[in-house]
Amino acid sequence: MASATFLVQANTALSNTHISLSVAQTQALRSQLKTQRGILNANNINQLCAQLNVTNDALLQGLVPLASEFAVAPVSNFHVGAIVKALDESGEVNFYFGANAEFNRQALSLVVHAEQSAINNAWLNGAKKTLKIAISDAPCGYCRQFMNELADAREFDILLPEQQFKLADLLPHSFGPTDLGNQYSLFNPAPQARSFNNTEVEQQLAAYALAAYVPYSQNYSAVKITTFNNGDFYGSYAENAAYSPSLSPLQSALSQLFLAGLSFDQHTVKGITLLETAGHENQAGVAQAVLASFVNLPPLELISAPLSE
Ligand code: THU
Ligand code: ZN
Repeated sequence: MASATFLVQANTALSNTHISLSVAQTQALRSQLKTQRGILNANNINQLCAQLNVTNDALLQGLVPLASEFAVAPVSNFHVGAIVKALDESGEVNFYFGANAEFNRQALSLVVHAEQSAINNAWLNGAKKTLKIAISDAPCGYCRQFMNELADAREFDILLPEQQFKLADLLPHSFGPTDLGNQYSLFNPAPQARSFNNTEVEQQLAAYALAAYVPYSQNYSAVKITTFNNGDFYGSYAENAAYSPSLSPLQSALSQLFLAGLSFDQHTVKGITLLETAGHENQAGVAQAVLASFVNLPPLELISAPLSE
C-alpha cells in the first residue's frame, strides 16, 4: 500500500525505476503540467519518450509521482497520484493527471480521490476511450466503484507500482449502472437534445451542465470557477450507481483548478457559479459544505434554470 518509492519532493529530480529526469527537466515538466492544466498530449508524450528513451507505459508509470505533487491533503498529508491514459476523439493518446483533494474541518467523505480527479480530468477534456490508469497506491473500494461507472470498465488496465490488474480482479461481483437499468456510462452518456433557454445562463457553463452524467438524479449541473489571472475552470456533475462515490460539480471544477497548480483562495478566485436544473436541484448543500472549508472566498452564485423539452 505505501508509496515510499514513488514520493518526490518539489524542486527535486524525478527519478524512479521507470524514468530518470534531471532537476531542470523535472522543473520544466512541472510548469508544463500547470500551464496545460494536468494534461500531456500525444506530442508531449512522444517527445518525452524519445528524449528519455522509454516506452509510453514506462513514462506513464514514471510520471505518477509528479501527479501526486498536485495533491492538496491538509488532513492526511497522504499524497496520491493517478494518471489516466486515454484516447481522444481523434484517436490520439493523452495523459490526464489527477491527485487527491481534502477539505479541512469538513466531513471526510467530501474528499476527491486521485483516481476520481484523473478520470474527471479525462472526461471533461475530451477523452473517449480509457486504456490504462496508473496509480501510486492501491485504489480504495470507493474508487473501484467510481471506475465501474466507466464505459470501458471491463477493458482498461490498472497499473500499480508493482502490479497490474483488470477492474474485475479488484471488484468481483460488482454493482453497477445496469443494476439500476441504466444502459449508459461515464464517457458514454445518453444523447443530449435539450438546452437551457434562460438567457441569464452563460453558454459555456450551460454546455458543461448539459455534458454532466446524471442518469440517477437528472440534475444537469456544472460549476464555473473564475480566476483573476488564470482563466475559468469548469466542472460537471458525474454520478455513480452506488450514489456515494458521485463527484459533485464543485469538486470537479476545484480538482481542475488544483491540477493547474493554483490555490483556492481570494487572491486567485474571482467568482464561483453553480448552475443546476430546475426541479432536480441537489448540489447547493454539498457546494456550501466544500466552500465552508475555505475563508474569504467570493459567495457562491446559484442559478437554477429549466431545461427545454
Ligand atoms: N486516497 C485516494 O486518493 N485514492 C485512494 O483510492 C486511496 C485514498 C486519498 C483519499 C484521502 O485524501 C487520502 O488518500 C487518505 O485516505
Ligand atoms: Zn479511492
